Amino acid sequence: MTEGRRRLAVLVSGTGSNLHALLDASHDGSLPADVVLVVSDRHEAAALDRARDAGISAVAVPPGPGEERSRYDSTIAAIVAEHDPDLVVLAGWMRILTMSFLRHFPGQVVNLHPALPGELAGTNAIERAFDEARAGTRTATGVMVHLVPDEGVDDGPVLASVEVPIHADDTLDTLAVRMHAAEHELLVHTIADLCSPIPSAKG
Ligand code: GRF
Repeated sequence: MTEGRRRLAVLVSGTGSNLHALLDASHDGSLPADVVLVVSDRHEAAALDRARDAGISAVAVPPGPGEERSRYDSTIAAIVAEHDPDLVVLAGWMRILTMSFLRHFPGQVVNLHPALPGELAGTNAIERAFDEARAGTRTATGVMVHLVPDEGVDDGPVLASVEVPIHADDTLDTLAVRMHAAEHELLVHTIADLCSPIPSAKG
């Protein structure tokens, strides 16, 4: 691990394209941080393979049948804490974290959501934006990165956001491609900003 670089734990549930963007940026020097752990709540998440291919510790921890959320979150928190991360990045993590997790990482948990602040919280935000555009009630959507201080869903202090237009000839696929590209860029830039030392006022 390079001296001075930040440590990222990344929580995922699916494909892992945002994890991949972080890994690429870590390797090419644009992100002064290393992914030190990837946790998935699903064994079959392709993101786990991406992490293992990159030589990163990657674990699947599915919740047990009927397991209480707080108990599950305590388990995940213990695993993450062992890796002493500076930031915990939720990159396509599809569970709401309770305070049993969040209280261990105050000001350190960052979520990516494919919608603008205050809009389309929850799952399938890209599909819902597309449907609204087709219905004539929306011409754009966007992406945001925000802190996760509590159990609010896709809610919390916004670190960065970017608008993504919805074109008249978009299909759900073309919109999704544009949204994912916007996510990758915004997530990497926002995490890089959080990881960069603040320049001294004395110059
Ligand atoms: C992203 O759209 C993320 O914002 C969302 O789930 C998707 C995950 O994509 N909530 P990936 O697993 O990073 O490819």
